[in-house]
Amino acid sequence: MTSEQAQERIEFLRKELHRLNYHYYVLNKPLLSDFEYDKLLKELETLEKQYPQFFDENSPTVRVGSDINNEFEQRPHQYPMLSLTNTYSYEELRDFDVRVSKILGTNAYQYVCELKYDGTSISLIYENRRLTYAVTRGDGEKGDIVTANVKTIPTVPLVVEHPQAPENFEVRGEIMLNRIQFEKLNRERIENGEEPFANPRNAAAGTLKLLKSSEVAKRKLDCFVYYLLTDPVIENSHFKSIQLLREWGFHVQPYIALCSNIDEVYAFIQHWEKAREQLPFDIDGVVVKIDDIRQQQQLGFTAKSPRWAIAYKFKAEQAITRLISVSFQVGRTGTVTPVANLDPVVLAGTTVKRASLHNADQIALLDLHYDDYVVIEKGGEIIPKIVDVDIDKRSSNSKRVEFITHCPECGTQLQRNDGEARYFCPNEKGCPPQLKGKIEHFISRKAMNIESLGEGKVELLFDKGLVRSVADLYELTYEQLFGLEKVIEDPLQGKVKKISFKEKTVENILKGIESSKQVPFERVLFALGIRYVGETVARRLTSHFKSIDALQKATFEDLISVPEIGEVIAQSIIEWFSDPDNIKLVDRLKSYGIQLQVKQEHIAKQSDILAGKNIVVTGSYATPDRRKEIEELVILHGGKLTDNVSSKTSFIIAGENPGPSKIQKANQLNIPVISESEFLELIKN
Ligand code: IVH
Repeated sequence: MTSEQAQERIEFLRKELHRLNYHYYVLNKPLLSDFEYDKLLKELETLEKQYPQFFDENSPTVRVGSDINNEFEQRPHQYPMLSLTNTYSYEELRDFDVRVSKILGTNAYQYVCELKYDGTSISLIYENRRLTYAVTRGDGEKGDIVTANVKTIPTVPLVVEHPQAPENFEVRGEIMLNRIQFEKLNRERIENGEEPFANPRNAAAGTLKLLKSSEVAKRKLDCFVYYLLTDPVIENSHFKSIQLLREWGFHVQPYIALCSNIDEVYAFIQHWEKAREQLPFDIDGVVVKIDDIRQQQQLGFTAKSPRWAIAYKFKAEQAITRLISVSFQVGRTGTVTPVANLDPVVLAGTTVKRASLHNADQIALLDLHYDDYVVIEKGGEIIPKIVDVDIDKRSSNSKRVEFITHCPECGTQLQRNDGEARYFCPNEKGCPPQLKGKIEHFISRKAMNIESLGEGKVELLFDKGLVRSVADLYELTYEQLFGLEKVIEDPLQGKVKKISFKEKTVENILKGIESSKQVPFERVLFALGIRYVGETVARRLTSHFKSIDALQKATFEDLISVPEIGEVIAQSIIEWFSDPDNIKLVDRLKSYGIQLQVKQEHIAKQSDILAGKNIVVTGSYATPDRRKEIEELVILHGGKLTDNVSSKTSFIIAGENPGPSKIQKANQLNIPVISESEFLELIKN
């Protein structure tokens, strides 16, 4: 590899890992399994070592990912919350042991083996023996304060009365959701038309970030603790400090062992690799720690992880079963996904009947035949995937699985773009799942926000022929809706469930539709689902053109003259308005009173007084809507919103309890911090 190629690969890997981190930590939607992720991370680490000239302090190898969410206040961790180095084999475990004995200069040490709980980490700060802060891992240096939510977890002591406990201490642990609660939660989500969580870990992390603690309380989280931090150290054995935590009232798992050598450690690992199925909660490995705290201190830390501990990660669980048939599902955007129907088999504690096949390339790669015996594996998603075929068991007359040529929903011939793996149905205007997808986008929270029409309900209205286009929503009547019923299948359990429209449901739906007429133009424009017109582009367009009529009349040149509107977006808008069906749609929406122009009061509010200014909004405001209004005012006056404080920040608008780290950084950089009223005064002038 030349140095240029190395640089290219390093940059590619960094970008990719940042993207994966964002999906994992912020969106709670992992794109890869830990194993695949670690492979990329290791490759980057090796290249960075070989080519130190390409060092970057922001590389994913030096930073742990972040779960920080703007809605919460943040707090710096007194001791950084690091991650653990992952290992996957006995050899890697031995290497770790050799490193440890070299640094310690002795073989006299013991290991503590614990389960690696697959939840989301938490730091619990006790002051005067009372729980005062619960903080997420965040970016490792600082995390979100989620105290109110954690206080709803019954296994987290609010006060520690034990006489041996010091006044002030910190406990770290994992917030968990057991499998039964997880499945119950997902069933409820599907019933309400919400997207189910991919796994208990994401569900736990998502729950911790809910804004209403009463909702958190309903989800029955648990907290398993694994680390006690006191200053000074009150117990020199990690094993014993875990027992102390139990005595103080914390929830400590009994599956913990003290081992005198790495072979004993490996025996513990092998036992749990099998036995984990019987646990009521998910684990993804075993954590191996040096027991003696002084030895831990001697070993110390690297930038990312302790040298005194390591994680042994289990490989994804696998099972073998027979392929019965393949179904082809058409998604909301027209993508056709093959799904394998299998002989039911138990995998990681749940019965699996279906597995994802991703796309046509995947089927070809596996050279899949009907009746094949296939190896399925549980990755990060709910639906397992087929990873291998046992060709020896294939019968000689079995038929190869071929990808379909026509849409199973509407019969249109499928298409595939050059360089893309997916087949899609091009019949955007007539293919039922695609039409439903448009309606679902239209009613979604960031668009028209018609909450009372969750996914299941749109499906029902569509299937009954009442709504084919978003405009039809505004013609629905009480009489049409009352008494409608539909049986829906629960994709997780294969069970069926009935939804029916009673008086209250119908009233709520009609109320929701009516109040969507007040939704401002920028969100209506986003709701229309014009390709490439996301939230930000919609905001730029509305603040420039002010009305749908002006936007419709805009030429290609007019469009690309708007800041941040490029040729692809401009072309897409021109195409959208050249379709007579879309013009009809706009006319209908106008006739129902939907906001298709910027309100006069907004125009009056506009100026360019904040042009070129980067502004951070932090802290809490009278209501979440108030915070949005402040942000909207920044945009209306030409300013740019940014999340993080840097030397480029012009000023900070701080509400109640602003993020301490943001304020600290602002002070360091001499950046003005102004209050809400000072900001209003500023734009008034
Ligand atoms: S000890 C200095 N023990 O795994 C690191 N971590 O990749 C101390 N985890 O963020 C961590 N079970 O959320 C430790 N028994 C256990 C654990 C555990 C799960 C999580 C933890 C940490 C991540 C490290």
